[in-house]
Amino acid sequence: MFFPVCANPMLRKANPTVWRAWRSWKLSLHSSTARASSGSGPLDRSEEPSSVLTQKSPHTPVMLKEVLHHLDVQPGQVVLDMTFGGGGHTKAILNMVHEVTVLALDRDPTAMSLAQQLAKETFGRVKPLLGRFSELEVLLSDMNIKPGSIDAVLLDAGCSSMQMDQAQRGFSLSKDGPLDMRMDGERYPDMPCAADVVNTLDQQALASILTAYGEERHARKIASAIVEARRVNPITQTQQLASVVAGSFPAAVLYARKDRLQRPAHVATKTFQALRIFVNDELNELHAGLRAARSVLTPGGRLCVITFHSLEDRLVKRFLQGDDLSNLDQYHFSPRKRGAGKEKLVYEKRDGGMVDWLPLRRKVITPEKDDVKENPRGRSAKLRAALRR
Ligand SMILES: C[S@@+](CC[C@H](N)C(=O)[O-])C[C@H]1O[C@@H](n2cnc3c(N)ncnc32)[C@H](O)[C@@H]1O
Repeated sequence: MFFPVCANPMLRKANPTVWRAWRSWKLSLHSSTARASSGSGPLDRSEEPSSVLTQKSPHTPVMLKEVLHHLDVQPGQVVLDMTFGGGGHTKAILNMVHEVTVLALDRDPTAMSLAQQLAKETFGRVKPLLGRFSELEVLLSDMNIKPGSIDAVLLDAGCSSMQMDQAQRGFSLSKDGPLDMRMDGERYPDMPCAADVVNTLDQQALASILTAYGEERHARKIASAIVEARRVNPITQTQQLASVVAGSFPAAVLYARKDRLQRPAHVATKTFQALRIFVNDELNELHAGLRAARSVLTPGGRLCVITFHSLEDRLVKRFLQGDDLSNLDQYHFSPRKRGAGKEKLVYEKRDGGMVDWLPLRRKVITPEKDDVKENPRGRSAKLRAALRR
């Protein structure tokens, strides 16, 4: 039986290994669907996946073939997956190159249990690391891994489907749950969650967060509605916040906004995004992650970074151009610095620029149309790839 593979024929010619790995991942998706629906696999037995490595991941990896192509992992190399998530990218790398070792970092203990399972099943080819980008240096030094010794690094920023789809985690706008949004609340129970932010910050600070991290044009109106609502009852549930935000707009415009696929998007989408970024200190973390990648990569090592909104992509682009982002902290909010900061990111040129990185592609890479159709969550993804000088 032929499973339609819509890979770019150029890629198939240019990099058959990547093409085969990507195809094997597609087949694994198909085989789990086929097994689930009919009970017997219609595939050629030689292509049927036999281990956890080829089982369907709980999160569909974004721009998989582009990542495999640009990381260009070779036998014997050490790869750092800084955002293990559901392990989709890691599994594809392990499938493509058998003698590779993958250091698998994630701040979320749930993702780490998947990494531990994969470590067992791959007899140690995966080394799980529980922690944040900002904790990576210490984690690696505890493992005796020296700076400049890693061959390829992947950073796939943002949230996983496992986090988004679990109402209990509080990320989802469409499923009611406690307004939490912490990726590692289990590890840091004292860290403020989204409910703490909406119930304690003053109106101006809330508006600044929505503007800075959600690029929300109606930030002041929404912040005012939040402050009004919490006077009556604290906002503790995701659906409660969604209705407070919705209540500050006329009913006719609730779904008037469109996402990039021109599908109606709820007016609270940007508010949720902004809160999540703030609660998890995502921009500072991304900056820490990029610095860590620069320090751990060997000369000639490769970096792939996937981001999902323009603030993050701008930061990555500037970092790879050699701009000095050391003052980033003072220009935006972080949970540790409540109420302090301004809304704009300001960058300064570091002398020389482009000193540390050679871009593998001049322009940002975006997902192919067919991939977006299959995985609409990846629609706003942007991939930048560079070589460490
Ligand atoms: C988009 S998902 C990665 C999906 C993964 N590439 C896959 O194929 O399944 C992002 C993951 O990065 C993790 N993450 C986000 N920020 C992090 C940080 N600062 N430090 C470590 N992990 C982080 C999240 O917990 C989440 O599991």
